[in-house]
Amino acid sequence: MEPAVSYSSVSKVYRDFFLRARVRTLDRFDLTIAPGETIGLIGPNGSGKSTAINLLVGLLKPSSGTVRLMGRDPREPSSRRELGYLPEENANYPFLTAHDAMWLHARVAGLSRNEARARCDELLERLGLAHARKRRAGTFSKGMGRRLGIAQALIAKPRVLVLDEPTTGLDPVGTRDVLELFASLKRDGVTMLVSSHILSEIEGVCDRVVMLDHGRILKTGTTAEMLTLRDQHQVRFAGGGPDMANELEAWLKARGAEILSSGHPTRSLADVYRELLVDHKQGDKQS
Ligand SMILES: Nc1ncnc2c1ncn2[C@@H]1O[C@H](COP(=O)(O)OP(=O)(O)OP(=O)(O)O)[C@@H](O)[C@H]1O
Ligand SMILES: [Mg+2]
Repeated sequence: MEPAVSYSSVSKVYRDFFLRARVRTLDRFDLTIAPGETIGLIGPNGSGKSTAINLLVGLLKPSSGTVRLMGRDPREPSSRRELGYLPEENANYPFLTAHDAMWLHARVAGLSRNEARARCDELLERLGLAHARKRRAGTFSKGMGRRLGIAQALIAKPRVLVLDEPTTGLDPVGTRDVLELFASLKRDGVTMLVSSHILSEIEGVCDRVVMLDHGRILKTGTTAEMLTLRDQHQVRFAGGGPDMANELEAWLKARGAEILSSGHPTRSLADVYRELLVDHKQGDKQS
């Protein structure tokens, strides 16, 4: 099967006014993304994530090597027909309302009036912006602008979705909604390349992770390979008291195991936030 995306030995060098090489932002970058795969791009500031993304959406030209999107050069406009892209910085038209901006994108993408109407409503609802559909994007908070950008990237049901830090500025509930949305797109077979600094998000949604540093791939692998500590084991149980835990530990020690940690598990602050702000409110509505 033809890959959805491929980078072969791609380098990008920025030059100064006198055409002297100044910054090598990507150095012989190789990556092949199969259709339906989700790849997370992580790495420090300035490591080349946005450069790799901008090469794939045709905004930049490689200094050497080749980039292919659905088998074609991403700088050919026709290759981008099935592409959805969210830039790193929100790029919304400040004077258009959320609905009008969506409508414009839908019509430019070739949707009929009926399709555009249904799709705008569906996506504004899905991204939690239905209440703000008549407000101008220039008055949006950062997270609202991000939601609008994601909705716009999805307007034409892209087969390949490229997202540069999609969840920066989103509140925890918005983040969860967006990650659930990505999971459902993944189930529909959409190919995704997502950069992020919020590593806990990447690990949940991506099949593979590429770690960049100074324009080079430091490590790449499936999330399971990267995250599982194969030489350690963990047991969590409920219903027994502390005595049972002590006995279990003693049993393990007697057989030569080293206890690395033991105690009560904790939940995340995000879980507590959701419980108080979402589940609690839903309970109020029902009662
Ligand atoms: N137009 C440009 N001219 C010169 N150098 C540039 C240009 N754009 C990016 N760079 C340099 O390329 C390097 C990689 O930048 P890039 O934006 O790809 O990093 P990033 O991994 O996306 O970082 P961040 O996490 O901050 O978004 C940086 O050193 C940056 O200064
Ligand atoms: Mg970036």
